[in-house]
Amino acid sequence: MPSHASAEGHRPIMLSRSESSDRSVRVDWSTYATAYDLLSEHNPEYQALLRDFEAFLATIETPKVIYDIGGGTGNYTEIAARACPGSEIHFVEPDAGMIGLARAKLAAHGNTNYETLALEDIDAPSTADLVICVHALYAMPAPEQRLADMRRLLRPGGLLYLIDLGRHMNVADWRSYLFSHLRKEHGLARTLRVFWQGREIAKQNTAIFKAQKTGVYWTHTEAEIASAATAADFEILRQDTVYRGYSDLLVCRAKP
Ligand SMILES: C[S@@+](CC[C@H](N)C(=O)[O-])C[C@H]1O[C@@H](n2cnc3c(N)ncnc32)[C@H](O)[C@@H]1O
Repeated sequence: MPSHASAEGHRPIMLSRSESSDRSVRVDWSTYATAYDLLSEHNPEYQALLRDFEAFLATIETPKVIYDIGGGTGNYTEIAARACPGSEIHFVEPDAGMIGLARAKLAAHGNTNYETLALEDIDAPSTADLVICVHALYAMPAPEQRLADMRRLLRPGGLLYLIDLGRHMNVADWRSYLFSHLRKEHGLARTLRVFWQGREIAKQNTAIFKAQKTGVYWTHTEAEIASAATAADFEILRQDTVYRGYSDLLVCRAKP
């Protein structure tokens, strides 16, 4: 899933899990961006998460201020912008390629502000009613501190909708899952075409796996992410294992 580039261009940012670590990784998010939506559209597990988010939004009071952190190509913000046209949405995404696609996708929604920044570089008051962060936390430096950053963006009682990849990305497992799903739905010729067009995804997912193995990207169990959220002063309202067991979904409330 992830890679990083600076706001000014496509210069990759080296990620380090700790200052003492000399391990680093680059996942090229900009290269990932162009193929990202193609595979997302064809991945029923990704679509199920979008539906979960839409259903979640329908259960809460309309949030006035929303942050989408690591918003990628804008799929979650698109749902929020449609469901909450009167809300002020802050789309936070450090990668120029990703945010470029998001801007184009969200052009019809005037209520979105774009911030080409990493979460750790945001300086904002604690006014958010809702923070969304999907499949981005694991790629951030010091994720436990980033949870605290998200807590700081929220007003007391505000909500965090968090999904995070926690387990090692098994590229072969995903490839065979998607291949058999697509083949059943669309036939072999179209499946091969989608795989060819989306070949960059497999490359970036392999980079993610390597980053996880070297500890540059965070991996966690259900219990570990729950305890990190609690330590960041969140009350967990809901927790599920999602995305074929690879990810955790948490809905949390910012404690006063
Ligand atoms: C796999 S994509 C997920 C995009 C989107 N949330 C979705 O689910 O479709 C992860 C995104 O996290 C972003 N990201 C990585 N490090 C970040 C950081 N420190 N702060 C904010 N976003 C970051 C990447 O640039 C990338 O676009």
